[in-house]
This record gives sequence, C-alpha cells and structure tokens, in this order.
Amino acid sequence: MLAKYSTYEETSYLLLYGELPTKEALEEFSTKMRRLRDLPKKVEDCLRELPPHPHPMDILKVAVSHAALYDPDRLRCCREGVMRKVIRIVSQIPTIIAYYHQTRSGQEIIPPDPELGHAANFLYMLHGKKPEEEEARIFDIALILHAEHGLNASTFAAMVTASTLSDINSAIVSAISALKGSLHGGANERVLKMLDEIGSLDKAEKYVLNALRVKRRVMGFGHRVYKTYDPRARILKEYAEYLSNKYNDRKYIEIGKKIEEVMIRELGKKGIFPNVDFYSGIVYHFLGIPRDLFTPVFAMARSVGWAAHVCEYTTNNRIFRPRAYYIGPEYVEYVPIEKRR
Ligand SMILES: CC(C)(COP(=O)(O)OP(=O)(O)OC[C@H]1O[C@@H](n2cnc3c(N)ncnc32)[C@H](O)[C@@H]1OP(=O)(O)O)[C@@H](O)C(=O)NCCC(=O)NCCS
Repeated sequence: MLAKYSTYEETSYLLLYGELPTKEALEEFSTKMRRLRDLPKKVEDCLRELPPHPHPMDILKVAVSHAALYDPDRLRCCREGVMRKVIRIVSQIPTIIAYYHQTRSGQEIIPPDPELGHAANFLYMLHGKKPEEEEARIFDIALILHAEHGLNASTFAAMVTASTLSDINSAIVSAISALKGSLHGGANERVLKMLDEIGSLDKAEKYVLNALRVKRRVMGFGHRVYKTYDPRARILKEYAEYLSNKYNDRKYIEIGKKIEEVMIRELGKKGIFPNVDFYSGIVYHFLGIPRDLFTPVFAMARSVGWAAHVCEYTTNNRIFRPRAYYIGPEYVEYVPIEKRR
C-alpha cells in the first residue's frame, strides 16, 4: 500500500513517528526536509578535495561523519534534538551523493531545488534537469521499498553503535559501513556487473549453471528472512519491465528474467528467489543513475529506517553485548617469546 499510495516523505514520517501524518503534519515535515538539504560549506569543500576514485560508499561514510561536526544539534540528546539530527542527515545524504558525483566528474554542483520532492530533487541534482514526473514517481517508489526492512545487518550495526549511547550520526556511519558489503546493499551494483558479464540472453543459463557448479553466489538472490519471492522485487521487476519497454532496450530485463527462471528452477526448492537487489539495478540504470551510486542510493533510502530503529531501541536502551563460546584448547601456558617455536 505504501508503494502504491505513499511518498518517501510520508513513509519517513510514518517510520519516525509511528503513524501516518495529517495533511498539515506532512506539509510541515516535507518543508523541513527541503530546508535541511543544504550541506555545510566545509563539507561541500571537502567533497571537492576528496579523490575521485574511491567507492562512493566510502565517500558517504566520510561525508556523513564530517557533516555531523557542523550539525547545530550535535550536542543535543533530547528527543527533539535527535529528531532534528535525523531529519537533517536523511535530507543531506542525497545532496552528498549528488555533489560528489558532480565534483568527481569535473562538473559544477547543482544545488537542491526546494520546489521538488525528495526523489525528484535527487534526480535533478544528479542530471541537472527536472525529471519527468513518471520517472520521479518510479524512483520515489524504489526509495519507499528500500526505506525499512527489520533487523537486517546494517540496521543492527546502527543499533549496536547507538546502544552504547553514541550519537545518531555515528550509528548511521556504522550502518553505511555494513550496507556496503556485497552480501547486503552492495549486491545491486554487482547484479548489473553480472548482466554485463553475461552479455546476451543465450549465455545466461550457462552462466548461472556454472556459478552454481563452482558454488559462486548469484547476486540478487536469496534472503535470510524471505524463503519465497521478495515482494519488493515483484514491484521493482514491473518497473524494470516498464522502463525497458519505454527505452526500447530489453537486453538487461531479458537476461535478468532468464537468470530468475534458471535460479528458481535450480534453487527454488531451497527457498532461493530474487531479492530487492535483483531488479532495482535495472530500474536505476534506466533512471540514469551511475552504477557505483546504486548502493549509496540504497543508503539514502534506508537512512530513515536505520534512524527509526535506533530511536525506538534507545527509548528503552540496553547495550548489546553478545557472548562468544570459546572452543579452543583449555589450558595453555604462557611461553616467554624467546622460547617460542
Ligand atoms: C542474502 C544471503 C547473504 C542470505 O544468506 P543466508 O541466509 O545465510 O543463506 P545461506 O548462505 O545459508 O544459503 C542457504 C543455501 O542457499 C544457497 N544460496 C543462497 N543464496 C544464494 C545465491 N545468491 N546464489 C547461489 N546460492 C545461494 C547457499 O549456497 C546455501 O546452499 P547450501 O545449503 O547447499 O550450502 C545469501 O542468499 C546471498 O549471499 N545472496 C547473494 C547476495 C545478495 O543478493 N544479497 C542481498 C540480500 S537482500
């Protein structure tokens, strides 16, 4: 229902405040988000200085940490102060990603447009022209679908950090670090790499069978929780189809559907189906988002979900402290270094 009727702003409000906003509350919240998009000048300058080659997820970590130093609510830990910090960082992440992309490509940065919603504004900052309404809406839906997903690895990382009573920005940085990995958010970028590697429909089946034979993971499949088709992937697949038809370029979607067919045939009985990352890359590709920004875009969407879990958990906080069972030898003598062999 959210993907069908909501917007990223409304979904964010729901996640942060636990209820759907009234019309007035949504207007106030969206205006707040639009006002908080700008980056501190020093962060903007820093983005210009950063090297152009690291993965943008590493840049995002640096910039989110850096932005926290200039947050006017930095030292506030009351609920209102934390909420302002959350709304500020959720609003700034798209600006960080777009500004970095412009500076690394040697282009002038394009400041946010306060007339545009969260999704449309990101595409505008990235491309320098207002997106078609339909494409902005498809992107908005993709952001909604990625906004929250229970206690996945990155959310848990954020909660562990926050449970020590560290600050919200540090928690978000922990989450970004966890999301970067290819078994989590990094999978979307690798799906497109795989589609390119395969190159044509006739090679897809052989590629998958070979990957399974050598026990290589096929990116965009499998999930710790879903043992059936990820409902987010179903929606994204529809938009991937739609955009492939619109741009009259069906190569990726045809290869993707073939991979899906073979994977379900071979591993469906084990509960391996497409996950959210399988078709999102094709959607982003047609929206003109550079490939190495797919995972940062995931972070941009998920930031509000991370923050919502952190706020909820720390309301009745207890530090996370799992214990490990030692299974090594029991009595080992300390041998002075000169006697060790
Ligand atoms: C998401 C993921 C990490 C979940 O891992 P998990 O819950 O620990 O599942 P397991 O690693 O125990 O996998 C269970 C079985 O399915 C197989 N499997 C799981 N995902 C697979 C994939 N993408 N490709 C091939 N085989 C896969 C495993 O090899 C294992 O087989 P086995 O029982 O014969 O050893 C895993 O499915 C994966 O690596 N997917 C690819 C990366 C990805 O798309 N990540 C985004 C997640 S939203």
